[in-house]
Amino acid sequence: MIMERAAIILAAGVSKRMNTRLAKVLHEVCGRPMLDYVIDACRGVGVDKMYVVVGFSANEVRTHFNSQNDIVWVEQKEQKGTAHAVMCCKEHLKDFAGQTLVLCGDGPLIRTETLKILVDKHQNEHASATLATAVLEDPTGYGRIIRDTYGNIEGIIEHADCTPEQLKIQEVNPSYYLFNSKILFEYVEQVKPDNVKGEFYLTDALAMIIKAGHKVVAVTAVRPEEAVSVNSREQLSDAGKIMQHRIQKQLMENGVTIVDPPNTWIDARARIGQDTVIEPFTCIYGEVVIGKNCRIGPFAYLRNGTKISDDVVLGVFTEVKNASIDQGVRARHHSYIGDAAIGKNVNIGAGSTTANYDGQQIHRMTIGDNCFIGSGSVLIAPLELKESAHIEPGSVVRSDKEAGDASK
Ligand code: UD1
Ligand code: CA
Repeated sequence: MIMERAAIILAAGVSKRMNTRLAKVLHEVCGRPMLDYVIDACRGVGVDKMYVVVGFSANEVRTHFNSQNDIVWVEQKEQKGTAHAVMCCKEHLKDFAGQTLVLCGDGPLIRTETLKILVDKHQNEHASATLATAVLEDPTGYGRIIRDTYGNIEGIIEHADCTPEQLKIQEVNPSYYLFNSKILFEYVEQVKPDNVKGEFYLTDALAMIIKAGHKVVAVTAVRPEEAVSVNSREQLSDAGKIMQHRIQKQLMENGVTIVDPPNTWIDARARIGQDTVIEPFTCIYGEVVIGKNCRIGPFAYLRNGTKISDDVVLGVFTEVKNASIDQGVRARHHSYIGDAAIGKNVNIGAGSTTANYDGQQIHRMTIGDNCFIGSGSVLIAPLELKESAHIEPGSVVRSDKEAGDASK
């Protein structure tokens, strides 16, 4: 039976520890805002509608996700805690009889696969609520899972409220849950701010649901990395490292060789074809597409809007931005190629540069198939070089009149 499924994503908090003016969930992990990943993971488990609770910098967050019509924005004016944030969605969900996932916008490492396990367990066990737990070497800052002598979960105690004994517990709450929506709202409105911070805790609603005798089950020991919540810049970089590892692993599975993974950085939005080799110290930022059988780097820097066809070689210190590079192109040493369309089999000699910016505007250029660009040339846009144009080394080229014919 397929049920209707909604999700509440909590993203209203002010992040003191990040020391930022930007909404926390807009901070980027491998080139994408954290919230993007959480939204993707929800879509992956068939969530029809996501209620994203925003507060601090709400407008910036909304603007970023403007055109996505499965997102409903919910405003939480004052940040009184996670239960209060969920309550802000009651208006929208009070008559909803399906399942509601609750997740945090600052947990970008959550994967669809894990949410699927959560959903399956919830359905197979006919549970009222299903949570996840993870065992962490250092559980500092996380809510601890409290179990009775039989090992049944009794509740979750926040770090600040733990006794010294409870602080030793390493099983924590990664903060994603699946609820029968009606039960969630029945209990979340009864939560009281009885804790050190004086906040309304969603975790208390869970304890109340258990106490009332409803069936609550747990997917235990999800990967520790999936519990990482980004509350500081240090955790942002930790999350970035883990995400980078995932991105590279996926690319390698797709048939890409990455010679030195720790010394390579690839944006989550990049696409790379089979048998392409990425040499060390290469950075690929933004939406970049690379074809098959290419050799990129070492020390290449590819930026947003770069489209590279098959069998291309871009060598040491080559920078490309917003340019398309057709099959068989060679630019082996020290080049800048920006805002350009480069035709097939063009050879770009060492140290050649496209000059696109006149101080006010960026102009584009087109270089035809089989052109030869001699070393140290400066190509000044706007420019169109016809097929097989031959540029002498050291040229400054403003029009194709200055070109010879490479086919002769
Ligand atoms: C929360 C959990 C904790 C868990 C941890 C995992 C509670 C009470 N605690 O703690 O058990 O181990 O996540 O990461 O739920 N938010 C709002 N409105 C608010 C308060 C928070 O939208 O009024 C949002 C925040 O923006 C954030 C998320 O809820 O995205 C979690 O809040 P945060 O303050 O980071 O909770 P933690 O202390 O990390
Ligand atoms: Ca957090």
